Amino acid sequence: MPIPKSEVVSDVWRDGIFANKVLFCTGGAGSICSAQVRAMVYLGANACILGRNVEKTESMARDIATARKGAKVLGLGAVDVRDAKAMEQAAERCVQELGSIDFVIAGAAGNFLAPMDQLSANAFKTVIDIDVIGSYNTVKATMPYLKRSAHQHQTNGGPTPTTGTGGRIIFVSATIHYTGAPLQTHVSAAKAGVDALAHAVCIEQGPWGVTSNVIAPGPIGGTEGMERLAKHSDVANSQKRIPAGRWGTVKEIADATVYLFSDAGNYVNGEILVVDGGAWHRSGTN
Ligand code: HXC
Repeated sequence: MPIPKSEVVSDVWRDGIFANKVLFCTGGAGSICSAQVRAMVYLGANACILGRNVEKTESMARDIATARKGAKVLGLGAVDVRDAKAMEQAAERCVQELGSIDFVIAGAAGNFLAPMDQLSANAFKTVIDIDVIGSYNTVKATMPYLKRSAHQHQTNGGPTPTTGTGGRIIFVSATIHYTGAPLQTHVSAAKAGVDALAHAVCIEQGPWGVTSNVIAPGPIGGTEGMERLAKHSDVANSQKRIPAGRWGTVKEIADATVYLFSDAGNYVNGEILVVDGGAWHRSGTN
């Protein structure tokens, strides 16, 4: 039974806006990224999702494909974003099977709670490797295809500012590093790196029509990350402190994704779109 469209994406978006487009998404079987992919598929895109766990990735791909009749969703399991060669091969396979890569979501992330004085050097490095190196590998492997896609949507044929949908990247980051968070030194450092990478890619690759933006989700209900964090906090009190008075939904992250990938987001580049109900502005205040 497919998840109904109304639970995945707002009805403000037109069906078919991403027809003939292909989304490549790392971490695509996770709670946030699968919602992003499902929304794009509902609105016409085909997709390739990648993950380390074969069964989880392939079964999520089959599930997302039920969103729209005729949708193609390729699930590539056993692909680790830390492996540059594997990422190149995955990008090639996506293009062979689906025809292009027009949009990329760099969503794979590593996260666990641990005090910094009890982390091993390898534990810290593991999260940096997954988040920062993994995001770099993702963008590097897909950049030739993103440039080709952006080029097809440019009016002048050469490197010009972005003029249409195609050649777009969204990095999935966080907000914890804006203020710092206990038990999350490794993730804070990694996500700051992801934000910096996104900005640098915008400056360097923007002239080819590629856009590079960040979505920074705040506390989003029903996700792996929040389940872990919630165990260590007073949920009712923490929700009360958010200006919106509640946790966000994966649908709200999907809507932000659709905005940035749609023609409505054409001139947005190098930005961090924080989707957190205003939460981080309250961090550290009473
Ligand atoms: C301390 C830990 C640890 C823990 C692992 N390590 N878990 N240290 N506390 N809870 C250490 C290990 O001991 C090891 O160090 C090193 O980290 C690498 O561990 P491995 O298990 O070998 O790594 P790996 O198999 O690559 O797994 C990576 C992982 C794992 C990050 C540890 O949790 C993972 O695969 N996560 C991916 C899924 C995930 O986390 N998704 C949620 C994303 S949510 P030593 O020294 O022993 O070798 C999210 C939200 C972020 O990103 C926003 C927050 C608000």
